[in-house]
Amino acid sequence: MPSTTSPREARAGTAPSAGATAVVGLQWGDEGKGKIVHLMTERHDAVARYNGGANAGHSIVVKGERFALHLIPSGILHAGKPAVIGNGVVIDPDWLSKELDALHARGVDTSGLVISDRAHVVMPWHKAEDELRERWLAEGSLEPIGTTKRGIGPCYADKATRGTAIRMGDLVRPAYLRRRLESICPLKTAMLGSITAKGGQAVRYEAEVLAELASGWGERFGRYLRDTGAMLRGMIHAGKRVLFEGANATLLDVDHGTYPYVTSSSCAVHGVGPGAGVPPAAVGRVIGVVKAYSTRVGGGAMPTELVRTEAERELGAEIRQRGREFGTTTGRPRRVGWLDLVAVRYSAELNGTTGLAVMLLDVLAGVETLRVCVGYREAGGRPAGGFTPDGEWLSGVEAQYVDLKGFSQDVSKARRLSELPGEARAYLDLIERSVGCPIEFVSVGPDREQTIEV
Ligand code: GDP
Ligand code: IMO
Ligand code: MG
Repeated sequence: MPSTTSPREARAGTAPSAGATAVVGLQWGDEGKGKIVHLMTERHDAVARYNGGANAGHSIVVKGERFALHLIPSGILHAGKPAVIGNGVVIDPDWLSKELDALHARGVDTSGLVISDRAHVVMPWHKAEDELRERWLAEGSLEPIGTTKRGIGPCYADKATRGTAIRMGDLVRPAYLRRRLESICPLKTAMLGSITAKGGQAVRYEAEVLAELASGWGERFGRYLRDTGAMLRGMIHAGKRVLFEGANATLLDVDHGTYPYVTSSSCAVHGVGPGAGVPPAAVGRVIGVVKAYSTRVGGGAMPTELVRTEAERELGAEIRQRGREFGTTTGRPRRVGWLDLVAVRYSAELNGTTGLAVMLLDVLAGVETLRVCVGYREAGGRPAGGFTPDGEWLSGVEAQYVDLKGFSQDVSKARRLSELPGEARAYLDLIERSVGCPIEFVSVGPDREQTIEV
């Protein structure tokens, strides 16, 4: 049969509309992405994670009730809406089980959950290796990465090396899975044995034991598995709006972050294409989430960290308490610092953000002088031209500040910009002008309602 579609029409037929939105963190994580994703899911037809794993911890507060999600997209709280764990995510099935059970116990409808059959499985040896590598670094002359020890790096490494990887779809192919495990287990036993510290107990991985564990995971998760790339592309081509939820953050991106103090995935918007299996051009809107100050968990330099004087350390501790700055995943206290606009400007430019969400503004109420880093000086006092995504470089720069008058009023009840004190608006103006991107949301409290839409 001759085709009735001209080549021009055929080409137009595969071009996506740019109706998808991505939400990405512009600092070192924990900017409040979960809250913004939950809020924006209302106006989208599906939500999808494209990177990371249980290293992420996204908190959502709805009518005073707090939820913490690690692997399941933050849109899950909108009953029945597709909530996709894309192929670029690494899944620890035990964590996923726990997370699902916790949601069910609280009456959350998780029927929207869909899991990519190509997402990689975090196996017990990945977590063991993560732990051993961190210990190895700590005993040597290098600062450990400060990972979450969730097996993220070793799992992504296996994905790239291929021969020793297991994907979610393999969990429901028992014969194939068994053959893979028979090959992988002796290799992992030997490899981990060789890096286990003196006196430590090396683990022996038995294919039979692992096959039983994995087939249990297959029974539990088999019904959620799909070719999520095909599903999301179908939605995009049908004009549906998909929301992509970034995990971790731009400065932790494996290519564009402060390497080596980063995670192992593409956290910035560039990860959406490979991590969800959609054309990158589908994403027309990119919301960059920025905390009104800086936090970081784990190793690596942080030029604005509040640690130089006793007064700074006290203020840092106060902000940590007020902002509940303790890891959602590991409970570790987060390092706290002034807002770093050199870093945020870099991240916004890299992601091509179309709008900003400025979070946790309420936490800064009562700080007499708000310092904002607007430049760096390199060794010898030379002004740095911009931000270099390199951990070693970053450890040698000195932050340059402008000081703004703080605000003392409680802003948590403000629902319009005009209800904010002038000093808070001046702070937001500085962010907008320095980053060169409009602010779309200002968050003044953890609850979904405590949001100013600009
Ligand atoms: P994510 O990883 O980017 O999703 O962020 P986390 O959930 O790890 O950390 C953000 C924390 O700030 C959570 O405890 C949120 O409930 C909380 N939060 C979000 N927005 C606001 C806000 O505007 N004010 C306050 N006080 N807390 C907020
Ligand atoms: P969300 O999505 C904050 C940090 C870890 C560590 C480094 C590498 O909640 O913003 P990994 O376990 O990924 O190998 O650790 O990255 N890290 C995060 N910090 N928020 C996160 O996620 C993070 N995900 C990873 O603390 O320094
Ligand atoms: Mg978090």
